[in-house]
Amino acid sequence: MGKDVIVACDFPSKEVCLAFLDKFEGKKPYVKIGMELFYAAGADMVKEIKDRGHQIFLDLKLHDIPNTVKSAMKVLSGMDVDMTNLHAGGGIEMMQWALEGLTRADGTRPLLIGVTQLTSTSQETMNNELLIGGDINDVIAHYAMNVKKAGLDGVVCSPLESKKIHEICGSEFLTVTPGVRFADNQTNDQKRVTTPEMAKILTSDYIVVGRPITKADDPVAAYERCLKDFVG
Ligand code: C5P
Repeated sequence: MGKDVIVACDFPSKEVCLAFLDKFEGKKPYVKIGMELFYAAGADMVKEIKDRGHQIFLDLKLHDIPNTVKSAMKVLSGMDVDMTNLHAGGGIEMMQWALEGLTRADGTRPLLIGVTQLTSTSQETMNNELLIGGDINDVIAHYAMNVKKAGLDGVVCSPLESKKIHEICGSEFLTVTPGVRFADNQTNDQKRVTTPEMAKILTSDYIVVGRPITKADDPVAAYERCLKDFVG
């Protein structure tokens, strides 16, 4: 488990996404489907990508009352995705119910990952707008502990936080880390970035890479470079 490159397929439609994946021919990268593509193309597209042999991280970040999240997770689990996620801010009970909903009759389930604080939330916004006190790094660590207490598999975080999360929650607790760029890339809108090589050193379990692969002149070569640098 872990040590893989997940390609963030942030595309507006199924056609664009499938045309992108066609470039990979025999290769089957782990694919992240986010809200944009899922709301545009839905469950049929998830099935089509799965049938092509890809593993899928369905990144919908659920957050609602426990019963609603449990019911929704049951539907996502039926789509046979490999990983999905929720906002840890929904609380431990919500996360526990989510896990129940996700678990299939035979006991198997997709990995369930918690989002602690969004990377777009600053210290100031968290303290003054959301009225959550304290240092944002302490809040992230506390939420990660809640995710672990609820029995989930890991958190989405920056590669720069992976080591600390593993120290607090154990080495088996997964860190799924966006914010990855090659040394020669633009950072785009990501504030704190790390190379695939550095993410490996910093103990990330999965790196989530979007534009450095999707916008590359040769996406397959960029993907293979990521795999080589991160997985070895
Ligand atoms: O193109 P880029 O490599 O920046 O894509 C990163 C992906 O990871 C995007 O799909 C983005 O929504 C997602 N993500 C992120 N930061 C988070 C959570 C998710 O960049 N904290």
